[in-house]
Amino acid sequence: MAGTLELLAYDFFRILRAPPVAPSAIAANNVKVFIETGPGAGTLAEPSVPRALANAEVKELVQLYAQAARNALSAGFDGVEIHCANGYLVNQFISAHSNQRDDEYGGSLHNRLRFLREIIQAVSEVIGADRLGVRFAPLFESTAEDRVYLGLVEEDPHSTYIEAIKVLEEAGIAYLSIAEADWDNAPALPEGFRREIRQVFSGRIIYAGRYTAQRGAETLEAGLGDLIAFCRPFIANPDLPQRIANGWPLNPVDPSSMYGGTEKGYSDYPTYAE
Ligand SMILES: Cc1cc2nc3c(=O)[nH]c(=O)nc-3n(C[C@H](O)[C@H](O)[C@H](O)COP(=O)(O)O)c2cc1C
Repeated sequence: MAGTLELLAYDFFRILRAPPVAPSAIAANNVKVFIETGPGAGTLAEPSVPRALANAEVKELVQLYAQAARNALSAGFDGVEIHCANGYLVNQFISAHSNQRDDEYGGSLHNRLRFLREIIQAVSEVIGADRLGVRFAPLFESTAEDRVYLGLVEEDPHSTYIEAIKVLEEAGIAYLSIAEADWDNAPALPEGFRREIRQVFSGRIIYAGRYTAQRGAETLEAGLGDLIAFCRPFIANPDLPQRIANGWPLNPVDPSSMYGGTEKGYSDYPTYAE
């Protein structure tokens, strides 16, 4: 027993000291990560250089995604969303910048989409494709410094993501969630891209990123999406649906308290009635 605990402690500290994993050992360019420095306080720091996953580890990870879906099911979830956006691991495999592998998971776009394909298949077997969603963040702009978001703007974002979305269509998943660029003056997703998504994907399409109720309604009326997701307006307005339904004004969000560990900026925004 003591031996097992020692082993656990050893593994725990080894993991704490270990660099993060990625498709390739490439330092993130122009990126800071948020780290918590104390309760409710944090700072932006330089990310560590990741180590490249071994081929066997990639296959192991696919099985871990399936296990995570099993865990979600047994915890009572109705479905799961696979996060393939915002520079997370699947996004890194899709991107030609962060994936420079020379095994079957790197190189051609077909190979770079293999990790996504295998995860979707493994998770679908557990939970059913009709209870599965995927989030992508297709980015189209790489000019200004603050727009080289995570270094993941592809040379040809349109083809890259249309091919990725075809993978979802082949698997018959329930929905596609698109995280649009959400910083001030972020470039809009090209309309032609949105139209092609509609053509190649028959599941539900969710858009998020700087939507107002009006812009959301216009997107739905144009037939480009099925659902609009709100984040920051919802953080600042716990009664957002009622405010939208009644045309009431919105509380502005306080960006300085968006990330952090206390109730401030989390559960203390007033409702309209208050
Ligand atoms: C405090 C905060 C936390 C977020 N956490 C996540 C996250 O864990 N995963 C994710 O995909 N997006 C996350 N997002 C991004 C939102 O899902 C959304 O795409 C983005 O805020 C744009 O929508 P908005 O303009 O309505 O806020 C987060 C955003 C904020 C402000």
